[in-house]
Amino acid sequence: MSSLPELHIRRFVTEEGETLHRLMHDTIRTVAVGLYTPAQVAAWAPDPGSAAWRLQGERLFSSLLHSVSLVAEAGGAPVGFGTITAAGFLDYLYVHHAVGRRGVGSRLLDALEDAARQAGAGAITTHASLLLRPLLERRGFSVRERREVLVSGVPLVNFLMRKDLGVGNRPAYPV
Ligand SMILES: CC(C)(COP(=O)(O)OP(=O)(O)OC[C@H]1O[C@@H](n2cnc3c(N)ncnc32)[C@H](O)[C@@H]1OP(=O)(O)O)[C@@H](O)C(=O)NCCC(=O)NCCS
Repeated sequence: MSSLPELHIRRFVTEEGETLHRLMHDTIRTVAVGLYTPAQVAAWAPDPGSAAWRLQGERLFSSLLHSVSLVAEAGGAPVGFGTITAAGFLDYLYVHHAVGRRGVGSRLLDALEDAARQAGAGAITTHASLLLRPLLERRGFSVRERREVLVSGVPLVNFLMRKDLGVGNRPAYPV
């Protein structure tokens, strides 16, 4: 495995919405294979240009604009990103498969947790994939509920997970 160029965590800029959507798509189509069925992977990462793709892009862009949105950059290019609301809901976390399992996700989580603390959130909650769950468990999150959601008519499993920050003055995202 080649070494990762120095990682830099910075705020999202509006021009890179489409780049991050592509990163999300390519990553799901690579790392979710084996854990999710082909139909689930296709629903989670719809074909670029399809109606489902456009809808997903709109939802992603809205989250990027209305949350604390951080981008991990290595060698001058985005390799991951995450968004968290002021109430502590971790909405997106994606790390490009080419740099997976080298701590980029953990670095983003550190920064997103700091942002939630600074915003006064009392807890962080998220709907974690099968890929994210073990990483969050190691970081003090616990599973509150196993969920099955329909994405383009295809059932996908995820887990409502929560970590109390113990310092908040804002009500946590309702669970
Ligand atoms: C989950 C994700 C953000 C982790 O990013 P990362 O940079 O690989 O994270 P780190 O290197 O800090 O931690 C790696 C841990 O993540 C999990 N993980 C990452 N890639 C994995 C894979 N292909 N298969 C199984 N677990 C995986 C493992 O727990 C791993 O720990 P390990 O290597 O000791 O087994 C990344 O895999 C990803 O983008 N996945 C697809 C999208 C996703 O599921 N996002 C969450 C949406 S709710």
